[in-house]
Amino acid sequence: MVVQADNLAYLAELPDASFTMIYIDPPFNTGKVQTRRTLTTKPVEEGEGDRVGFAGKSYSSVLAQLSSYSDTFEDYWAFLEPRIREAHRLLAEDGTLYLHLDWREVHYAKVMCDMIFGRECFLNEIVWAYDFGAKSTKRWPTKHDNILVYVKNPDQYYFNTDEVDREPYMAPGLVTAEKAARGKLPTDVWWHTIVSPTGKEKTGYPTQKPLGLLRRMIAASTREGDWVLDFFAGSGTTGAAAAELGRRFVCIDQNPPAIKVMKKRLNTVGVRKAKLLTEMGENVSAVYDKHKSARAIEKRIEAETAVLEARRKERAERKRAKQQRLAEQAAVAPAMGAE
Ligand SMILES: C[S@@+](CC[C@H](N)C(=O)[O-])C[C@H]1O[C@@H](n2cnc3c(N)ncnc32)[C@H](O)[C@@H]1O
Repeated sequence: MVVQADNLAYLAELPDASFTMIYIDPPFNTGKVQTRRTLTTKPVEEGEGDRVGFAGKSYSSVLAQLSSYSDTFEDYWAFLEPRIREAHRLLAEDGTLYLHLDWREVHYAKVMCDMIFGRECFLNEIVWAYDFGAKSTKRWPTKHDNILVYVKNPDQYYFNTDEVDREPYMAPGLVTAEKAARGKLPTDVWWHTIVSPTGKEKTGYPTQKPLGLLRRMIAASTREGDWVLDFFAGSGTTGAAAAELGRRFVCIDQNPPAIKVMKKRLNTVGVRKAKLLTEMGENVSAVYDKHKSARAIEKRIEAETAVLEARRKERAERKRAKQQRLAEQAAVAPAMGAE
């Protein structure tokens, strides 16, 4: 399902704990001018304060001036923090957040997520390494992104590598032929090409991420039928990977060109139509611009699926009856000719 909305306003409508996985790839420059402020925290007595952070300790947030941070960062923090809080609320007990960033923001965001989730909920930092484009000769060329992985509950999160694609061993001669043929499970460093500017995967959306990355995350952190959310959806890479793997998805973006690309890519229909496009049991994709909750959508999808299924059965019955009529006529015709 694709939703056109400002994500913060829209997320507030969704019920707690409804997603098994959330992937987000937020823009760094939000283009918003925010009042100048930064957030710092100070430890307080247990049970007090407005957040629980490192090792379950309580913290109280205070606004402070930290002039050493740039305005851009302050804006970014103010933009991202309430959205990460919503992500935390929306994750199911066995759920996982993948927060896709780059070297400029990742360290600040790590501190923010430690505060919101608790440090014990930090699972991994995935480094997505690629090698493409111009290279600086004044420093080491920066050719990687960082994906922070947080779980809602470190004792209950879902993680299963059975469906995860495997990689070739770097030194296949050092393992048995059988192991070499099977490949190895990826580590937290993922070498993967960027979306090729001339390849089939390309949608034309400028910040499109490779499907291969999303497939891997979704395969490991969700089961078939689970709900996956991306509220900075862009070209809908998360929706495409989720659909491919039989997971249900909600993709939110506020930008009309993103919605246009997603409609085409995810085989969806016009805003507000909420019409099912595929046969029952396959992907169900619709575009909404307003609804009450993920469960309400699910109910609506079920109801519409039932209507479509009834229509499909009617059509099949009409076709069968017609074929039977034709067969009976064909049987009668030669008999009449023989008379
Ligand atoms: C970096 S792009 C995401 C690209 C995506 N991962 C992909 O593979 O195509 C970030 C997206 O966030 C959207 N965005 C930014 N602020 C938003 C907001 N407040 N609400 C909803 N979408 C927003 C932008 O329109 C943009 O499409």
